[in-house]
Amino acid sequence: MPDNLTIVEHPLVQHKLTHMREKSTSTAGFRRLLHEIAQLLAYEVTSHLALTTQPIETPLGEMDAPVLAGKKLALISILRAGNGLLDGVLELIPSARVGFVGLYRDEETLQPVQYYFKVPDGLDGRLVIVVDPMLATGNSSAKAVELLKEQGARDIRFLCLLAAPEGVRRMAEAHPDVPIVTAALDERLDENGYIVPGLGDAGDRMYGTK
Ligand code: URA
Repeated sequence: MPDNLTIVEHPLVQHKLTHMREKSTSTAGFRRLLHEIAQLLAYEVTSHLALTTQPIETPLGEMDAPVLAGKKLALISILRAGNGLLDGVLELIPSARVGFVGLYRDEETLQPVQYYFKVPDGLDGRLVIVVDPMLATGNSSAKAVELLKEQGARDIRFLCLLAAPEGVRRMAEAHPDVPIVTAALDERLDENGYIVPGLGDAGDRMYGTK
């Protein structure tokens, strides 16, 4: 397995992912499963967060109790499919700051072009978690991370549901400092850039579009 990749093998994650892959799963079912799986993946992607202590009083006495240290973290969704993961992660970390990156693919150059970019201040002092369900070619992920680094982000992690070997390699080349957390590493991309066996177009399945 590539160094930059963590696959979350937890049985609940794998079970829910299987239902998401099934083409018979409804739009509502797909969205609910993505929401649930996002929370389980968020547990893994935040497992290294630093703690400090603060004095508190329980009904029975005083103690120094652990709390998260440092600035609120930043969740950055790559539009539009990122929003499905974002919603679940936000439920687990409601105080997180949120940003959005919109990219489309230029049909001539095949390179990602930015059409929207709005992120929280002070990215240099935050853990920044970039969310996008499908790490396919890795072009838009690598571009989004590049834009975030230009805004000062230093501690970046990438959270996805499915990864293709091509996307993992692209991210490792462009951003070897960015760990990737995913539920599965699939076989390959097809000629249209879809992950095989994958689950189809995550945005379409989430929003019921074609
Ligand atoms: N984006 C998707 O939604 N699905 C893929 O398989 C690849 C990219």
